[in-house]
Amino acid sequence: MLNRSLSERAGMFVFNPHPSYNDDDMKIVTEIAELRVARNALAGSVGLVPTMGYLHAGHLSLVEHAKVENDHVIATIYVNPTQFEPDADLDSYPRDLERDFALLRDAGVDIVWTPNDAVMYPEGFQTWVDVTDISQPLEGGHRPGHFKGVTTIVTKLFNATTPDRAYFGQKDAQQVAVIKRMVRDLNMPLAVIACPLVRDTDGVALSSRNAYLTPEQRTAAPILGHSLCSAIDKLANGERDANALRTHMLTTLASEPLTNTEYVSVSHPDTLQELETVTDAALLSMAVRIGKTRLIDNMVWRAEH
Ligand code: PAF
Repeated sequence: MLNRSLSERAGMFVFNPHPSYNDDDMKIVTEIAELRVARNALAGSVGLVPTMGYLHAGHLSLVEHAKVENDHVIATIYVNPTQFEPDADLDSYPRDLERDFALLRDAGVDIVWTPNDAVMYPEGFQTWVDVTDISQPLEGGHRPGHFKGVTTIVTKLFNATTPDRAYFGQKDAQQVAVIKRMVRDLNMPLAVIACPLVRDTDGVALSSRNAYLTPEQRTAAPILGHSLCSAIDKLANGERDANALRTHMLTTLASEPLTNTEYVSVSHPDTLQELETVTDAALLSMAVRIGKTRLIDNMVWRAEH
């Protein structure tokens, strides 16, 4: 029990499940005041990797990018309740803080901030950040209020950690587009860096939610990547009719009996507007349920000039 042994070593008791301590130069903090002290002690540039924990290789690739481009890296772990729909998987969302801390320590992170609800949503909370239009389609259409929760919490994470750069995975393509829009609109003084989606050896996009899949469901999951790849092949072979691409992805997904498709989309990668005809670039994206687990995936196609 890493947490317990560290807290015991630091002379603390286990009543506080996430005590602040400094081990191998990685600080773990909960309170904003502690974070600010630790943040202000960092000289040079800071890269931020916001996460909801239960880390996988996709998160660690964000840390790697942040390490290369900055003098210091701050990671945050917070399962943000306001980005979950009321009947969604907030309570069952996978958590393993001690494993996460060990992975982040090995990856060379300087500070891990694990705020709690009292820190992030103080009593009487009523201030929201809402990126109106680009939050509406795709995920926004199926998860009402989701992006308002994301942009509000990400603003709070930015405000508290004041990073030079913040790193997000391209797996959540709409999240990246929404956050980039927010940063531009609110003149936030940082760069948003989108890092490539990381796939498992069988092509399944890494996600903390993959942990929910039964072995049988897990063998069905590569169909998302297959349907995207074969639509990209069609584009490479000259197909430009977005509806033909949507139909092709739907048909491929339907060939796997365990899938229940929520949407497939062929949209503009920046505006997320659905396309009729693909010209220079397209974001191919989808949300598919396998059993109770909702998986998302995407690929971006760009014309070679
Ligand atoms: O991508 C995520 O894990 C979350 O949406 C984020 C950016 C950490 C905000 O809660």
